[in-house]
Amino acid sequence: MKNRWYKEAIFYQIYPRSFKDGNGDGIGDIKGIISKIDYLVELGIDAIWFSPLYASPNSDYGYDISDYKAINPEYGTMEEFDEMVKLLHERGIRVVMDLVINHTSDRHEWFEQARSSRDNPYRDYYYWADGRGKDGIKPPNNWTSFFLGSAWQYEERTNQWYLHLFDKNQPDLNYFNPKVMGEIKEILRFWLDKGVDGFRCDVITLLSKTKGLPNGRPGIALVGSEHYIDGDRMEEYLGQLQEVLSEYDAFTVGESVFITVPKALRYTIEGNEYLTTVFSFDHTAADNFFGIKQLSKKFSLRHLKKSVRVWQQGLYGKSWNTLFWENHDQARIVGRYVSAEKNRVEGAKLLATVLMTLSGTPFIYQGQEFGTTSARFADLDDYKDVETFRSYTTLRKIFGKNGAMKRIRYCSRDNARTPVQWDASNNAGFTDGDTTWMKVNPNYVTINAEAAELDPDSVLHYYKKLIALRKSDKAFVYGTYRDYYKNSRKLMVYERESEYGTLFVVCNFANKSANFTPPKSMAKNGEFHLVTSNYGDSPSELQATKLRPYEAIVYKLNK
Ligand code: GLC
Ligand code: CA
Repeated sequence: MKNRWYKEAIFYQIYPRSFKDGNGDGIGDIKGIISKIDYLVELGIDAIWFSPLYASPNSDYGYDISDYKAINPEYGTMEEFDEMVKLLHERGIRVVMDLVINHTSDRHEWFEQARSSRDNPYRDYYYWADGRGKDGIKPPNNWTSFFLGSAWQYEERTNQWYLHLFDKNQPDLNYFNPKVMGEIKEILRFWLDKGVDGFRCDVITLLSKTKGLPNGRPGIALVGSEHYIDGDRMEEYLGQLQEVLSEYDAFTVGESVFITVPKALRYTIEGNEYLTTVFSFDHTAADNFFGIKQLSKKFSLRHLKKSVRVWQQGLYGKSWNTLFWENHDQARIVGRYVSAEKNRVEGAKLLATVLMTLSGTPFIYQGQEFGTTSARFADLDDYKDVETFRSYTTLRKIFGKNGAMKRIRYCSRDNARTPVQWDASNNAGFTDGDTTWMKVNPNYVTINAEAAELDPDSVLHYYKKLIALRKSDKAFVYGTYRDYYKNSRKLMVYERESEYGTLFVVCNFANKSANFTPPKSMAKNGEFHLVTSNYGDSPSELQATKLRPYEAIVYKLNK
């Protein structure tokens, strides 16, 4: 196994629209990001993944791209982007862009052309088909969209339907047409020549569809998914992307829906990487990260431990894991995995401890580092997200208005997309203007970055401490995974071993005390000393103890 920069790096995800507004219009932008570089350097991160900065009509806020080679004017200019990359590089921070190539916006030039006539040269950049049934009034097949409803949209102009696995404003690109890949490779080159260091590849494992787009097995959440998840041409397509990426030694992380360990190995095995790493979603409290299912799933420690074990052990020594709790598609973890009320700070630090003591590359999502909670707005009008609206329509039919809103409040992606709470001033210091594109979480008065800076016991300072520890000791980064008390509903206990030493991590996920005894096999392992804990006074040696609510302790074997 090779030591590579990305293995020892800490990533930070920026959702530009909500990070920091630099010109007072209430929308986050590049100028705002530049003003926070010092903050990011102090946090200790090494790389940033930017959610889309490209031109977009904002149906899905940048995940619907209308020009791959332009910066969204709301966020700034290309000159400002170049300046930002330069400034970040000067501070040793790498830049990873979002690559959204399963689909474009319906306002992309290619689609505007494609939809204009059946014989337009761009027609085959997308999937078009005749309807079924009498007069073709039914969609060409039974596939459903990730955002619920049919995955097909009818176009009167040419009397055919086009495929969209996401919103109807996000038509899927047709990779059976080699010209499409040619275009994408050129786009990659464009950004790599600018000096960006890699890409987070949006829903990348959906690129390869079954030829002929046959009907899917009915009765499952995503009808048709067996015809487009990890399809048989995936390696071919990823290999073509690698022809460009490898020239630049670019890093990639593939967002891979429903990925399993064997499939992840297929894509990322060291020495033959189609992707450098993938994001897996097993450990998130959602088993389908879009749609209704996610809205009903509750956090389960046993489920979490099982997925961590499977991925830590499954990839170790062969490939490389990514580690994350939050992103722009998930409601905040404080309030879902741990309480947002009682022992909130300890809970947030507990999750930080696990994130920073597993093998893999940790990703921190903006605001997570000071324990931001979900806003859970009561009123549907306060939401902006297309998936939220689509889910609401369906949920309302099943659960009624109140039942639907209850689920939206708990799970909407907008919970992660409220403006970053910088300080206790008006609009949380996100903007100097009077309005914000999305409402600020009203708890910004107490939970904000400035307050966290001033409090030595804050979640933020604990993140900084853990990041610094991970940087100074490779035992945090590399190492096998062995867990104990697998069936406990309170404890998560694991040992990590490598040439850099042995870590032993003891966590109480219960919001009340829990008894812990070191596993018998550990007794002869000699002495462990305390490295860090989210309580100031945890036992300085590994021993039987009554753990306090959410207590998390990291020990290391004496040399
Ligand atoms: C990815 C993005 C999500 C987006 C979807 C469609 O899952 O993370 O935000 O809506 O792809 O592009
Ligand atoms: Ca702005």
